[in-house]
Amino acid sequence: MSTPQDVYGDGAAEQTARYDAARRAFGEIYGRGKVYCFRAPGRVNLIGEHTDYNHGFVLPVALDKDTLLLARPRADALVRLCNVEPDYPPVTFAAGPAIPSAPPGDWGNYARGAAQRLAQHFGRELRGLDGLVVGSPPYGVPRGAGLSSSSALTVAVAVALAHWNVGAGLSASADKPGDTDANHARMADLSDAKPAPTLDGMTLAQLCSEAEWYVGTRGGVMDHFIAVLGRRDHALFLDCRPDAAGRYRTEYVPLPAGYRILVVDSGVHHRNVSGAYNQRVAACRAGVALLRARYAGITHLRDAQDVPWAELAAELPEEIAVAALLARGIELGDLPGVNPDTVLQVRARCRHVWTENRRVIEAVAALRAGDTAALGRLLDAAHASVRDDYEVSCPEIECLVRTGREVDGVAGTRLTGAGWGGCIVALVRNDAVPTFEAHVAGRYRAETGRNASFFACRAGPGAGLVSVSRA
Ligand code: GLA
Repeated sequence: MSTPQDVYGDGAAEQTARYDAARRAFGEIYGRGKVYCFRAPGRVNLIGEHTDYNHGFVLPVALDKDTLLLARPRADALVRLCNVEPDYPPVTFAAGPAIPSAPPGDWGNYARGAAQRLAQHFGRELRGLDGLVVGSPPYGVPRGAGLSSSSALTVAVAVALAHWNVGAGLSASADKPGDTDANHARMADLSDAKPAPTLDGMTLAQLCSEAEWYVGTRGGVMDHFIAVLGRRDHALFLDCRPDAAGRYRTEYVPLPAGYRILVVDSGVHHRNVSGAYNQRVAACRAGVALLRARYAGITHLRDAQDVPWAELAAELPEEIAVAALLARGIELGDLPGVNPDTVLQVRARCRHVWTENRRVIEAVAALRAGDTAALGRLLDAAHASVRDDYEVSCPEIECLVRTGREVDGVAGTRLTGAGWGGCIVALVRNDAVPTFEAHVAGRYRAETGRNASFFACRAGPGAGLVSVSRA
């Protein structure tokens, strides 16, 4: 277990009132007594968008904005969850391997997905919990903003359930030099004398990413890996292609000195984009299926990363309907929102993935070399690619990206997250931050009639247990 100081650094003092209020609220709902406080962070992705489900490269950072789950174990398998926000009604379910889902849009489905996947993994019902979720502003992860608030909820529930079902579970990492995976949990299950089940951070992250398929979006592993494995002051380079043993290559990369990573929320929060997202997944899967005719054995676009783009492009149609693929015996798998008449822009989508993977590798090199100008150019190029080839931007995001670049001292700006609204990330020289905020806020309001909100990304650690105290 780590302290709020380990987790929030200079911001720890501000958190005291939040944690105290959360404990009091927990006590009022569930009665006084011992309470465990878990947290899971949101994330901002520096570069590497829509590459994860193609087994490509990503470079996310865990935020110090997080979802708290105050919890107490139960003697049975029930999970009872309340939320401090009245829009999210209480949820109760039994934590087994086949949990019936509530209608789409029910916030409890993230918790159900987490519990179901863990129960499947352990092959048994889990010990349940009574919990209170605290994710409200200003310390919570902004919702629908492309900063993975839903994954933070999934991971917080999974970490808490793991705590009582694995043994001592995960604890929020205090970064120790030389500790390459500070979040590993290897404690014995004290409840019986059999060999203890163990769950390391990587496995937990993988399970959480599969858990989120429960809600319909066929996302990749990025959000859960960074939520579990994040590290203070670092980005996480993640190679999303597992090796034969199912392990992933990770590398912590220090953030640039002298620059701030600013997150600007457009306030455009699209709901129900899983159909559009799944259509991007479908286009990539179609690309793989079509490339397989020439490059036998590839399973993901990443497997063709070393082939020159011109060669790949020659094999890929600009667009093709799902029905035409089906007629050729190509099935794309279970993708809600993708129908036979869906037309897939295969070539452009694959081009984005191929070029983006290269940019991530170059971005890691630029960060390591302290070459912020090169990093900024890569961010700009990545944005052009998600806008033109992946087509996941929107006018409000374009306004933020463009006006942000008008400011002297801004190295680069880009859309971060899945797209269709949400946030941009900007690499801004420390002394240029006030001008950046004033200029972008003013231009954004003038052009769109909306207010943008800004915060500086402080890279925090991954999910875990932060405190055990009395409610
Ligand atoms: C969402 C998904 C991630 C990733 C991003 C786009 O956040 O959950 O897995 O695909 O979109 O990079």
